Amino acid sequence: MKEIFQGIYNINQKIATLNSAPGTKPFNEILVTIDGKEYRQWDPNRSKASAAIAKGIKQFPIGEGCVILYLGIAHGFTASYFSDIIGPNGVIYGVEFSDRCFNELLSIVSSRRNIIPILADARKPEDFVEKVIEKVDVVYVDIAQPDATEVAIRNCKKFLKPRGYLMFTIKTQSVDVTQSVKLTVKLEIEKIAQAGFEIIDWKMLDPFEECHGFVLARLK
Ligand SMILES: C[S@@+](CC[C@H](N)C(=O)[O-])C[C@H]1O[C@@H](n2cnc3c(N)ncnc32)[C@H](O)[C@@H]1O
Repeated sequence: MKEIFQGIYNINQKIATLNSAPGTKPFNEILVTIDGKEYRQWDPNRSKASAAIAKGIKQFPIGEGCVILYLGIAHGFTASYFSDIIGPNGVIYGVEFSDRCFNELLSIVSSRRNIIPILADARKPEDFVEKVIEKVDVVYVDIAQPDATEVAIRNCKKFLKPRGYLMFTIKTQSVDVTQSVKLTVKLEIEKIAQAGFEIIDWKMLDPFEECHGFVLARLK
């Protein structure tokens, strides 16, 4: 077993986190016990953050005690792993606008108290500014919308700490189906850079997610 990033392990060539709710596997993930500690395999085919790690992203700024604003948390698959990594001193403010996903998220939150679910439209940060009661270390965005880049930048301006990180997934088919996948990703990255971010690294997520890019950027 090797620690790849803080709280993220390589166990027999599989990415894994230490299960913060031992005995539970809400997404039917594989559990592995080593030296009495239970780890959850984190499938890169089901999570873009795990895919970015599998593709060799050079930094992963989520660690113990981290405060995250997560836009597009859905039913909480990826967020459940972030919850393991950040531990009881961290917080995930999870924004989701689909009632169906939100209801599924609530069952995850009952065993992971560091996730605060927020039913809201990420396009309107003014609607949830009273629920996100602090500046965050990381804004994580996975909303698969044509204006996802603008939504990400708007939320960073409101909630991200100086020198905080943006972790951002680009679903190119939501942005422009007429141009090449890589060009779409590069043009969205350019918008992020122009908004005052240093681009630390980016990866295409194939073969785990086709037509998706993942960007790690830091507020200058
Ligand atoms: C690709 S899924 C997210 C998967 C999730 N991040 C994971 O890895 O477990 C995109 C989610 O974003 C949500 N979404 C899309 N646009 C949104 C918006 N404007 N505000 C809030 N949620 C949004 C969708 O309802 C959907 O659940």
